[in-house]
Amino acid sequence: MINIRQLTKHYGANPVLRGIDLDVAAGEFVVVLGQSGAGKSTLLRCINRLAEADSGTLTVAGIDARTCQDTRPLRRQAAMIFQHHNVVPRLSVLKNVLTGRLGAVSTLSSILQLFRRDDVALAMQCLERVELAHKAHERTDALSGGQMQRVGIARALAQRPKVILADEPVASLDPKTARLVLQYLRDATRELGITVVCNLHQVDYAREFGDRIVGLAHGRLVYDGDTAGMTETDLQRIYPGPATDVQDAAQTDPHTHSTALRAGA
Ligand SMILES: Nc1ncnc2c1ncn2[C@@H]1O[C@H](COP(=O)(O)OP(=O)(O)O)[C@@H](O)[C@H]1O
Ligand SMILES: [Mg+2]
Repeated sequence: MINIRQLTKHYGANPVLRGIDLDVAAGEFVVVLGQSGAGKSTLLRCINRLAEADSGTLTVAGIDARTCQDTRPLRRQAAMIFQHHNVVPRLSVLKNVLTGRLGAVSTLSSILQLFRRDDVALAMQCLERVELAHKAHERTDALSGGQMQRVGIARALAQRPKVILADEPVASLDPKTARLVLQYLRDATRELGITVVCNLHQVDYAREFGDRIVGLAHGRLVYDGDTAGMTETDLQRIYPGPATDVQDAAQTDPHTHSTALRAGA
């Protein structure tokens, strides 16, 4: 579903991706694990062309994502979920989910916010998958952070994508809510056969939810394997640097997980 070869990306003189090779099969739930600055977001952004890679090849659902002229088909196939749920607060929950259909409706309809009845039915089904159908007509800003992220998942599902790219979708949530949100994401995508690439920096969540873990450190793939096979040595490669660095990062970053600390210790 996703095939990446020797992908590189610089920001100025800063090499951010240094020759990434990665294949993701249809229906897989791959977690990309790595500390802050490892290049996780850049990798995801290159996959749906929010960022331009410098070299290498990249295909997504049969589309050449590096060179395609029109990015709309690519972005229709690869839906994005962000850390800060980026839903529109003043719109109803249902309207937020319907914006996932905008790529599929005409410009005039989208300006007039006219949605076909079957789009509304689809949006409601997607809300049911995240158990928020009863909130459909409430304003989105009345929801909790976890519920807003579930709206973000429903919106991505409503796009009927082949791939969902989730960039630290639970970073701003407490652990209990984070697990619940990841459960909705995994269960819905599994049932629908959607391929997921999910950036996380919490090792425990990666182990719990990933079919497979890809470790990124300083723009290189340093681990690619099943969830059970990841050892402490692998974790040290994913979270490189002396223990004091990791300790410092943990003090400034409330989301760094304790397992990462143990890995660096
Ligand atoms: N738009 C940008 N302009 C310049 N540098 C960037 C930009 N986005 C990311 N970077 C740099 O690229 C590196 C990797 O960033 P990122 O992909 O966001 O990592 P991660 O998501 O793993 O934290 C960092 O050094 C970051 O500062
Ligand atoms: Mg990031």
